Amino acid sequence: MEKKKSIVFTSIKIKESVTLKNRIVMSPMCQYQATDGEPNAWHYIHYTSRAVGGVAAIIQEATAISPEGRISNGDLGIWNKRQMKRYKKLTAAIKNHQCIPGIQLAHAGRKASTEVPWLGRTQIAPTEQYGWETVSSSTLRFNPDDTPPKSLSIDAMKEVVKDFKKAAKRAVKAGYEIIELHAAHGYLIHQFLSPLINRRKDDYGGSFENRIRFLCEIVTEVKSVLTTQSLWVRLSATDWAKGGWTTEESILLANVLCEMGVDVMDVSSGAAVLNQKIVVEKNYQVGFATQIKQQSQLLVGAVGLLFESEQIEKVLDAKQADFVLIGRELLRDPYFPLRVANDLDVEVPWPISYERAKVNRFVK
Ligand SMILES: Cc1cc2nc3c(=O)[nH]c(=O)nc-3n(C[C@H](O)[C@H](O)[C@H](O)COP(=O)(O)O)c2cc1C
Repeated sequence: MEKKKSIVFTSIKIKESVTLKNRIVMSPMCQYQATDGEPNAWHYIHYTSRAVGGVAAIIQEATAISPEGRISNGDLGIWNKRQMKRYKKLTAAIKNHQCIPGIQLAHAGRKASTEVPWLGRTQIAPTEQYGWETVSSSTLRFNPDDTPPKSLSIDAMKEVVKDFKKAAKRAVKAGYEIIELHAAHGYLIHQFLSPLINRRKDDYGGSFENRIRFLCEIVTEVKSVLTTQSLWVRLSATDWAKGGWTTEESILLANVLCEMGVDVMDVSSGAAVLNQKIVVEKNYQVGFATQIKQQSQLLVGAVGLLFESEQIEKVLDAKQADFVLIGRELLRDPYFPLRVANDLDVEVPWPISYERAKVNRFVK
């Protein structure tokens, strides 16, 4: 008997050259395991395992466009040729498993120069070893204990835009087929979007049009070096704080980005300011994705506490999002998509060497 179709395991065309084989994408997750921004054995094993596990695409962790754009000294980077060459092996391995390699290009702005999470995530002062001076849209700090960031001059901003462009060019050369810009979680681009952080008096601060200008310039430059690759933007749909970036602004931005040729909005939220009021529960960010999907032409990915097969099927079946991005559940189980297929009673190909494990474990 033919097995039923589940929406999770239907393909979706993102653009002519990029089709997801199912609706499960690996969400970007920093590993803090790099030296000099270069990937190593950890990254190859970590990402290839998830490709073997059946995700349709992998958005590689926040990968810095410049050394000072790293959150920590352990972040991946793509600011030089040496790093670019090392990613070629990784993208080839991912593609070998019918999975699409994507990369999240990032600059941490005022949230840069910190210890890795397991050492406390505190900021390392520019005067200390492994520390550097951070930059932002203005001089407001994230933590009261941080050294205030330097406010970027217009010339310095143009350099950052160029760094994004050069990083995108290297990403294309390295074989990535999805380029995601990290405009969420209180990092540099978000520091321009959010009125709680952006206090500029020039063309890049104040009005909505001014606050999105920096992102739009990055999109234009990055787009100019892409050919067949798909361009995604990860956004915090709300700051969860009074006077902050809002969902209404996210919808307006989605329409602007769609006009500019962005394909997908990856809809997250928060992390701009410490005093955010956020209730974290199942599906807590799905509503934002749905609003953006309903009020723009962009495809949307929903993310955040999506970890059960039926839950994901329901979100997609109700057209609340076009696909889901999965974070921590994929750290717990690299083969999560295979498990979802089993739960939903859907036939999907397994890696040939694992075929004998595919049958119900109680059947001999
Ligand atoms: C270890 C870890 C690292 C993360 N690093 C990133 C990152 O590099 N870029 C990003 O946009 N989000 C990052 N996130 C957020 C995840 O991509 C995801 O949005 C979040 O964990 C919620 O999804 P989940 O409930 O499925 O884990 C990280 C999350 C975790 C747990």
